[in-house]
Amino acid sequence: MTKFISIKTSLPGPKSQEIAKKRERYIAKPMGSSLSPCYIAHGEGALVTDVDGNQFIDLTGGWGCLVVGHTHKKVVAAVKDQAEKYLHTDFTAVPYESLVELAEKLIKLAPGNTPKAAAFFNSGAEAIENAVKIARAHTKRPAIIVFENAFHGRTLLTMTMTHKAMPYKYHFGPFAPEIYRLPLPSPSHLMANIEDFEKILINTVTPESVAAIVIEPVQGEGGFNVPQEGFLEYLRKLTDKYGMLLITDEIQSGIGRTGKFYAIENWDIEPDIVCLAKSLAAGLPLSAVITKKEITDSLPGGCIGGTYVGNPVACRAALEVINIIEEEHLLDRALKIGERLKEQFLKMKDKYSIVGETRGIGAMMAVELVKDRNTKEPATQETAQVVQECLKNGVFVPTSGINKNVLRMLVSLEITDEQLDEALDVLEKAVAKV
Ligand SMILES: Cc1ncc(COP(=O)(O)O)c(C=O)c1O
Repeated sequence: MTKFISIKTSLPGPKSQEIAKKRERYIAKPMGSSLSPCYIAHGEGALVTDVDGNQFIDLTGGWGCLVVGHTHKKVVAAVKDQAEKYLHTDFTAVPYESLVELAEKLIKLAPGNTPKAAAFFNSGAEAIENAVKIARAHTKRPAIIVFENAFHGRTLLTMTMTHKAMPYKYHFGPFAPEIYRLPLPSPSHLMANIEDFEKILINTVTPESVAAIVIEPVQGEGGFNVPQEGFLEYLRKLTDKYGMLLITDEIQSGIGRTGKFYAIENWDIEPDIVCLAKSLAAGLPLSAVITKKEITDSLPGGCIGGTYVGNPVACRAALEVINIIEEEHLLDRALKIGERLKEQFLKMKDKYSIVGETRGIGAMMAVELVKDRNTKEPATQETAQVVQECLKNGVFVPTSGINKNVLRMLVSLEITDEQLDEALDVLEKAVAKV
C-alpha cells in the first residue's frame, strides 16, 4: 500500500491519451516529452496529480526548477498579487522595485566581499549567453573554455558550449567559434597532478586570448559530476594568473540544492560571474547573472537586455523563493535529503550489482547504473527500464549523464520524509526488477 502514490488507470489514462492524440497532430515532434506520458492537472510540493486523477511523487522537480515545490502557497500568493497589479512593463522602459530588491538579496547572499551587480534574463541559456558576452566585452578576448560533459543550454552559443551531440547538436551546426572543451578532473577521472591542466589549456588555446572559463560547480545533465578536490580553487588561481574570468553555471546546482544557496559556497572561492536560473523563480522563467560590479560597469548602458527580462511576476516569485528557503531552513533540509538519498543508494549498491557510483553534494545526489563496476560500462537501456518501472508505479525519476545511465535526484526540498521513503521504495523495487 502506498500513502501518496495512487494509480487508478492504466498509464497514460484515457484523458491523457486524448490530449496525446492532439499533441501528435499539433506539437512539433522534436519537442518530445522524455518522461511522463501523463498530463498534469495539479501539483503540490513533490506531488503531481494527472488529468485522470493518478497521483505521482515527482523526483524531477520540474527538471530542477522546484526547490520550493509545486505551487508553494507563498509563491502563488505573490504571483496572484503581482498579476493583479501589472504583468509587464520592460524594466528598461518603466522600472519596478521588485527587480531591484531581488538583485540586492541575491548579491547579499553571494560569496565574497567584492561589490556586485545583477542582470536578469528569462532562461538559463540566456544567462550563459549574456555572461559570455559580458566576459568577452570586459576582457576584449574571444575564447571561452568549457568542460567535457558540460551542459549550458540549447541556443547557438550555449549548444556549442554543451558537450553532448545527440540530441542537443543534431545537424544544428555550424557552431559558434572560439569555444574550447577541456577535460574535467573529477573523482572518477582523477588528474594525478591538477597543475597539468594548465599544460592542456596552453596546448589548446593561447591563454591570453581566453575571456573566461565556464564551469558547473556540480555538473547537472553531465551526471552530477563534482570536480576533483582542489580543482575549483586551482581554477581560481589559474584564471587570475592569465586575466581570465571564472564563471560558474549554477543554473541547476544553485538556489539551495547543494545545501548552500550558491553551489560555489561549497568551496572557498569568489567567482567573477555566477549564473542562476531554474529554481530561482519556482518555475517561472527568470535567470540572473551576478557579476563583480567593476565588470559590468566597464560596459556601456543598453548593450544587454531583452523585452521580457526580469519579468515582475517572476521577480516577486523569486523573492518568495529566497524567503521560503530562509524561513523553512531548506538548506539544512537539502543536506538531510542528500544523506537519505546517499544512504539508500549505498544500500542498493550492496544488494544489486547494477548499482555503481553514488555522487553529488547535498540533495543534488545521483547514482550511476553500470553493467560492470570495474569497467563502468553504462547500463543505458536498463536505466531507461528503471525509469519506466518507476513511472508505472507512480514515481517520476529523471536521468542524466552523457550515456543516460545516471539517476539524478532533482526533488523539491519540500518533499516530506514519508514521501521520500515511499519514492525510494519504488525506485529500489524497480532496480531490483531490472
Ligand atoms: C547547468 C545548466 N546550464 C544551463 C542550462 C540551460 O537552461 P535553460 O534550459 O533554462 O536554457 C541548464 C538546463 O538544464 C543547465 O542545467
